[in-house]
Amino acid sequence: MARLSALLTGASLVVLSLFAPSLAQQQPPNNGSLSFNGQVGEVTGSILLYPITIGDKDAVRFEGELEGLGRLDDGASYKYGIYNSELDSTTDSDSTSTPTRRSPLHLQKRAQRCPITTMFDPAGLLDPDNGPYQCIPSDYQNTCAVGDLSTKFAVWNGTETGKYYVEIEDITVKLDGPDSVLGKFFIIRDTNENFHACARIAG
Ligand SMILES: *[C@@H]1O[C@H](CO)[C@@H](O)[C@H](O)[C@H]1NC(C)=O
Ligand SMILES: *[C@@H]1O[C@H](CO)[C@@H](O)[C@H](O)[C@H]1NC(C)=O
Repeated sequence: MARLSALLTGASLVVLSLFAPSLAQQQPPNNGSLSFNGQVGEVTGSILLYPITIGDKDAVRFEGELEGLGRLDDGASYKYGIYNSELDSTTDSDSTSTPTRRSPLHLQKRAQRCPITTMFDPAGLLDPDNGPYQCIPSDYQNTCAVGDLSTKFAVWNGTETGKYYVEIEDITVKLDGPDSVLGKFFIIRDTNENFHACARIAG
């Protein structure tokens, strides 16, 4: 009898896992999108984020066309990544000690620049308590912060025309659930840390 119920439980698990993919197809996560309007840095254009599968893995594809990624005089290249925002109310741990820092005007002023805090890293790989951080592109799903895109997929090199076609496919980026990148910020900086673009990823 115990054996039968174990078998039945196993059978219902199989049924559940057979159902899961079709449920996922009925309710795909929202696409994300971001557009750079030249307010922070000179880059303009937009990027769409949408769910794909790579082999049997869920992934997200970033696709878009940017203008303004010209060659930099000193031969520097562009780093890009996903960052947490200081507008995230859930990480507002110092609001009780310094309430005036969070005035709407203050937020507005900061938002005109790039209101980012730390790199988006839900697994905590950048936390020094978890040992030294070493992002290895060939093993990025285990070694890289989700937001550390340019280390995972190589820095962008400016072009003569300044036009740049973005094409990234990442199995660690999510568009739904608690570790979704929606609401986070996508930024582009050069290797001297100058900002060239900053935009919120909208759902
Ligand atoms: C998401 O983007 C893909 C690729 O452009 C498109 O085919 C699909 O219709 C979009 N889905 C939604 C819900 O906008
Ligand atoms: C940019 O140039 C560097 C150095 O040549 C190269 O390693 C890297 O792959 C290039 N980036 C892209 C996206 O092609």
